[in-house]
Amino acid sequence: MKIIGIVGSPHRKFGNTYKIVERMLKETEKMDAETEIIMLSNLEIKYCAGCATCLREGECPQKDGLKEVQDKMLGADDVVLGSPVYVGHVTAQMKTFIDRCVSFAHRPCMQGKYAASVSVYAGVGSVDDVAEYMNGVLRTWGAYTVGKVTGFAVGPGELEETVLENAAEIGRDLIKAIKERREYPIPEGSVKIREQLKNLIIVNEDFFRADYEYWKDKGWID
Ligand SMILES: Cc1cc2nc3c(=O)[nH]c(=O)nc-3n(C[C@H](O)[C@H](O)[C@H](O)COP(=O)(O)O)c2cc1C
Repeated sequence: MKIIGIVGSPHRKFGNTYKIVERMLKETEKMDAETEIIMLSNLEIKYCAGCATCLREGECPQKDGLKEVQDKMLGADDVVLGSPVYVGHVTAQMKTFIDRCVSFAHRPCMQGKYAASVSVYAGVGSVDDVAEYMNGVLRTWGAYTVGKVTGFAVGPGELEETVLENAAEIGRDLIKAIKERREYPIPEGSVKIREQLKNLIIVNEDFFRADYEYWKDKGWID
């Protein structure tokens, strides 16, 4: 079993997000998982250029650190996304990464994998919404979301132990989900997004050529 954590905090290993993801993954190691935490701030991942080449031809023309992370996600059984709340949303690092993975949303290649999200904030806005946003993205990519962990901390290292305990619990559940081949009901919002994507791809068959062929191969469109 392979579990990948992807952290979007510029605080990297000193940050609260990292500490929560680390605790979650350490717990999975106790259950024989192999783990890796990728720090987006250590990579060069350029902005999405909006060219839609990945949706038409299958691959992004920009050559940078993205493909390595995507390959690692595709080789993993579970993926965890983590970001602190920055002005009401995920960090720019995490959003840039999510934008560049738009082909994962159009061609949901993470089916059969499990996922969870982590977010930390300093008490302003909704940390739950930010973690739920990342879980929504993971579902759009096709993964089943097992849960989310949220925490409060102003400076690095100020997390309460209960948050880390919650992370450990989700870590155990990520492993159990793989072993049980667990299936989750897909929330209404995610079903709606899938339907909207389907319409978009059918109506724009040539513009989204790679997507159209993927959906056709899967038998999702006639
Ligand atoms: C640019 C910036 C924007 C932030 N915006 C928010 C915010 O909207 N709401 C909030 O509660 N905390 C906000 N914070 C605080 C961080 O979410 C908080 O310090 C968190 O613990 C940092 O986690 P990290 O150590 O993993 O980076 C912001 C911090 C920075 C630097």
